[in-house]
Amino acid sequence: MPDPQRHPFLQGLSKHRGAPPTVIVIFGASGDLTARKLIPAIYNLSHDNLLPPDFYLIGFGRKPVPDEEFRGHAGAAIREFSRRDLQPEVWSRVARNTFYLAGGYEERAAYDRLHALIQKLETQAGRELQSLFYVSTPPSVFRPIIENLGAAGLASRHLGTPIQSKVIIEKPFGRDLASARELNRVIAGVFQESQVFRIDHYLGKETVQDLLVQRFANAIFEPLWNRNYVECVQITVAEEVGVGTRGGYYEQSGCLRDMIQNHTMQLLALTAMEPPVSLDPEAIRDEKVKLLKAIQPLAPGDGGDVARAQYAAGLAGGQPVPGYLEEAGISPRSATETFAALRIAINNWRWEGVPFYLRSGKRMARRVTEIAIQFKCPPGTLFAGAEQYNLAANTLAFQIQPDEGSTVLLNAKIPGLETRTQPVKMHFRYATTFGSNTPEAYERLVLDAMIGDGTLFIRGDETEASWRLITPVLEHWQERQREGLDAYPAGSWGPKAAEALVAPRGHEWRKP
Ligand code: BG6
Repeated sequence: MPDPQRHPFLQGLSKHRGAPPTVIVIFGASGDLTARKLIPAIYNLSHDNLLPPDFYLIGFGRKPVPDEEFRGHAGAAIREFSRRDLQPEVWSRVARNTFYLAGGYEERAAYDRLHALIQKLETQAGRELQSLFYVSTPPSVFRPIIENLGAAGLASRHLGTPIQSKVIIEKPFGRDLASARELNRVIAGVFQESQVFRIDHYLGKETVQDLLVQRFANAIFEPLWNRNYVECVQITVAEEVGVGTRGGYYEQSGCLRDMIQNHTMQLLALTAMEPPVSLDPEAIRDEKVKLLKAIQPLAPGDGGDVARAQYAAGLAGGQPVPGYLEEAGISPRSATETFAALRIAINNWRWEGVPFYLRSGKRMARRVTEIAIQFKCPPGTLFAGAEQYNLAANTLAFQIQPDEGSTVLLNAKIPGLETRTQPVKMHFRYATTFGSNTPEAYERLVLDAMIGDGTLFIRGDETEASWRLITPVLEHWQERQREGLDAYPAGSWGPKAAEALVAPRGHEWRKP
């Protein structure tokens, strides 16, 4: 594997962007996300010298925990979950400025204590600090946290300056259109939109950002990127894991809310949107919203545009695994879908008549996220009809994860004295070209929020546009419960019901 420090292709790629002096406050400090993602992200930013010299971290949680113990937990989280090993000298730079504050999320006085602590840190630093509030709690307390940040004057600190307070909101952002609107309303009562950073961690993935570059920095794609040349687009977000220990959460969520409404729709928006007028965050987000608004309402009934299913017992990694209904914390009558697929029609000049197929599921054949643009077949005048011509539709596939890269499927002549053809693949792989030391999504997202760059975050109107599309489907499924819910064996590519979405146009799901 090439050494990323020395690799010639990496020269000039790093653009050191400075974050202002900052205190990050994590609400939900003892949660899983904090240990698995946030603390390791902060550690790696420190490792890469991307944290400002005056950087402070405050964990906020219900349980009283001494500072020293919180630092210990954080160190253990880095050892277990960071992509790099813990180097004591790197961690100690962060650890010595790490504190813990105990308080109830609904306890107004706790926010005054928090404000006092931030002021104390400002005195200690001898300068003003930007406050970045990271709301990583269950959604039931999003509202009191936001309102209390407002009431304690924390939301308006240094307002109107580059170090104005900022808030990062974790998913799930609402559970339908009405709740997402209500949450946006609560947030707008306290923060200006420029202070708000709604997370979709898929946008932090290196390959998702690369989509913009691939599309708009390469002139060869644009002429083909439309209904004249594209036959269909398939977006797959498949997971090999099952629901694991998250049954309680998942039962309330299901695949459509958990993966499609957010991650998969974001991939769709970036794939199908018009070129933005600039790389300005608002210019990009305007185009995404425009695209989401051009999607036709989905027909949820039988023979409609959606399919749902639950995994049954099957195999994962060659080992037998139970079905969803046998998993811990799952009701034996659960109607929660672990797989969902949509057929989307985009009503605009570029995409009229091109189906976009989206699917996501747990316990599928393998973990893969892929966007595949399938082009129209060439006219069958020359190489068609005869057995020696084995042809496939040209396909450009972006592998978002794992094995990041892209592949173009072409037809080529098999060497020999007769003309026989076969589909071949042309690959670009991140790991071979750039080395494999790619930052984790949360590193990028935490850094961008500190800098105040909202490009990779979801704007309020974007969340609503996506929920507007999905909510009628959720309501339909809620009414029908298990009626019309299909099943698929764990370790497969999904249910029969999904085939029915692509069959009418003679398409087939890929097996990426
Ligand atoms: C989360 C979902 O948003 O994304 C999980 O809640 C899912 O259910 C996860 O497993 C997948 O993320 P990644 O980055 O592993 O593809």
